[in-house]
Amino acid sequence: MYSDQPRSGNFQPRGPLRGTVRVPGDKSISHRALMLSALAVGESRISGLLEGEDVLATAAAMRAMGAHIERTGEGSWIVHGVGVGGLMQPSGALDMGNSGTSTRLLMGLVASHRLTATFVGDASLSKRPMGRVIDPLSQMGAEFTASPGGMLPLMVRGLVPAVPISYRLPVASAQVKSAVLLAGLNIAGITEVIEPVPTRDHSERMLRGFGAELTVDVNADGTRYIRLMGEAELKPQQIEVPGDPSSAAFFIVAALITPGSEVTVTHVGMNPTRTGIYKMLEAMGADLTYSNRREVGGEPVADITARHSPLRGIEVTPDVAPSMIDEFPVFFVAASMAQGRTITSGLDELRVKESDRLALMATGLTAIGAIVEEREDGLTIEGTGGEPLEGRATVTSALDHRIAMSFAVAGQHCYKTVTVDDVSPIATSFPTFEAILKNLQVQN
Ligand code: S3P
Repeated sequence: MYSDQPRSGNFQPRGPLRGTVRVPGDKSISHRALMLSALAVGESRISGLLEGEDVLATAAAMRAMGAHIERTGEGSWIVHGVGVGGLMQPSGALDMGNSGTSTRLLMGLVASHRLTATFVGDASLSKRPMGRVIDPLSQMGAEFTASPGGMLPLMVRGLVPAVPISYRLPVASAQVKSAVLLAGLNIAGITEVIEPVPTRDHSERMLRGFGAELTVDVNADGTRYIRLMGEAELKPQQIEVPGDPSSAAFFIVAALITPGSEVTVTHVGMNPTRTGIYKMLEAMGADLTYSNRREVGGEPVADITARHSPLRGIEVTPDVAPSMIDEFPVFFVAASMAQGRTITSGLDELRVKESDRLALMATGLTAIGAIVEEREDGLTIEGTGGEPLEGRATVTSALDHRIAMSFAVAGQHCYKTVTVDDVSPIATSFPTFEAILKNLQVQN
């Protein structure tokens, strides 16, 4: 099911990018839609679901634990849930492929069910830290047997009844927050997550949408207190998944850096916990316009138009990081072609994503001619002032979809071809990326 054979990709300018495109459904929301539908009693319908490998891993796992999940058309899925507390013992290991979100959120679900599950994943996922979810879920009573360093493969033995906890997040992570809340669904009493720095709030929105009793209080310094009442009863829903702002960002940046371009991406999720990239690009001088603002599936949505723009270097402070955490790779591409210096800091988390994104972007951008200084917690980049980069190099994607797509974007404004050694990981989040990029290229 996973990982097509490794396949290299060549990216070079073909003139301006022009057109209107729609990107697939939001990855974070797609995972949560499947999980919560599988925990509601009755039939939920999901439209616009992302059909990337990561989300398919979640679907397969929920099926293995008893939910009935059926695809009825492109992006259209029907789920018959088993009810909170109703997940069943899977007969084999749960293969999470490349997906950290599937792994961490499902570990939360399993933690408060009477079952034992083994999680396995690909080489990238097997190097990512799971201690951050093992800690709170152990406090709730689940037992773990993990590989050295708290990594996959690992086994979770859930506990019923598990214990509700109040947990202050030591890292700004929506995955950890969500794992604790999902565990809390099947625990009597109030499970609380204290979040000093806000992260994406799709779990909170969707839990409420499914009828869970969940409150969020924000104190004067911005700390969020999220309280969920278990044992929750979830009611089946119809969910429309908005387009993924993280996927849209690749085409927006490609249009901004490529002379003569104008690209509109429709139906893009505009949840304020996700739109840091757009604010930072605007601070650099990007010409972005938003139209047709509306609400879809409890989330704000808009169409975004990006026109080629002269960009200026900026400083991105650590407080912005969570709202653009997945967009730094493509943001670094924009910075490498801006006028002047861009400084980023507070980005330690980028070192434990699908790859070490600070190291890979620094190495790859340097290989194609950018001036980049790598520091422990960020990059400093001297831009070209709008000139193309040299290109003429092969960069490594290291099983990281966003690294592969970022260098595909960089290739739109280089003198010579940028080769990505393996573009197959793009299928984890955006199987149609290369086809859409090709459609936007106006053949000269
Ligand atoms: C996600 C949270 C983020 C993000 C990931 C998706 C989620 O991870 O990087 O792509 O859906 O909750 P962290 O929680 O590790 O920051």
